Amino acid sequence: MKYLLSKVVLASCLLLGVSAMSPSIAADAATGPAKPDAAKGATLYDQGDAARGVVACASCHGAAGNSTIPANPNLAAQSHEYIYKQLTEFRPKAGAKEPLRKGPDGAPSVMTAMASALTEVDMRNLAAYLTQQKLTEPATATNPKLLERGQHIWRAGIPDRNVPACAGCHSPNGAGIPGQYPRLGGQYPSYIEEQLKLFRAGHRANGPMMNQIADRMSDSDIKAVSDYAAGLR
Ligand code: HEC
Ligand code: HEC
Repeated sequence: MKYLLSKVVLASCLLLGVSAMSPSIAADAATGPAKPDAAKGATLYDQGDAARGVVACASCHGAAGNSTIPANPNLAAQSHEYIYKQLTEFRPKAGAKEPLRKGPDGAPSVMTAMASALTEVDMRNLAAYLTQQKLTEPATATNPKLLERGQHIWRAGIPDRNVPACAGCHSPNGAGIPGQYPRLGGQYPSYIEEQLKLFRAGHRANGPMMNQIADRMSDSDIKAVSDYAAGLR
């Protein structure tokens, strides 16, 4: 076993191009990646880390992931896999010039600078913390006139344009399926609308299924279903 581990360590050092093994790499290889630490995630979320240029997430996303500003999405009760994935995709992947997830008009998202200051371990710790938080101030639907159309799209899709029912993936109550599909229930309607438009324009290219779906939707479809999804519990 020892022999095997040392071979693994050697192989990973070669891969990384590291000549002298640093103690942290040695420890990782011997024990595997550390379990995410939600308490450390909480501290970083609340306070940031000025020395490393990490801005306190709470200043935009609110206490415990309950945002009070619609432009900044709620993060509480979102699956940790999804949060981690988004944080990695606000940054350009190795060798790529641009991140998969960009902001309005294809400009860098506000989050690109935020996520770029984080380490791999930070991202896992933050995701572990946020997924445990309750959505205590969920957003609601705001426009009763859109309800019927929104509900129809959510439950049945738009068959003549091959738009599938949102409920099929994001679950009937909007809670999503951890590890696969994000929660939309309780999210701000204006944020949901904005994301659908970013998928449609291709500025957000980290969910090919959503690019295809949004591509077949009109502005008014998007508005109606976004409002409806926000009100789901
Ligand atoms: C200056 C305000 C601001 C700060 C600080 C900030 N965020 Fe964000 N965050 C945003 C905005 C705005 C968006 C939407 C970005 C977009 O659509 O491009 C966002 C989006 C996200 C998303 C994607 C959510 C989803 O539903 O897809 C995650 C995850 C996230 N932020 C995590 C964090 C974490 C963790 C921190 C702290 C390290 C942080 N944010 C700091 C403003 C901020
Ligand atoms: C086939 C499965 C599937 C269907 C059907 C589907 N989605 Fe999605 N959706 C996804 C996946 C996967 C993601 C996550 C993409 C990523 O990793 O960034 C997602 C992400 C989203 C997001 C971004 C959430 C956030 O926090 O930023 C929105 C908004 C969204 N979907 C809305 C919808 C709506 C509205 C419908 C119905 C018209 C719908 N989706 C139908 C799979 C689906």
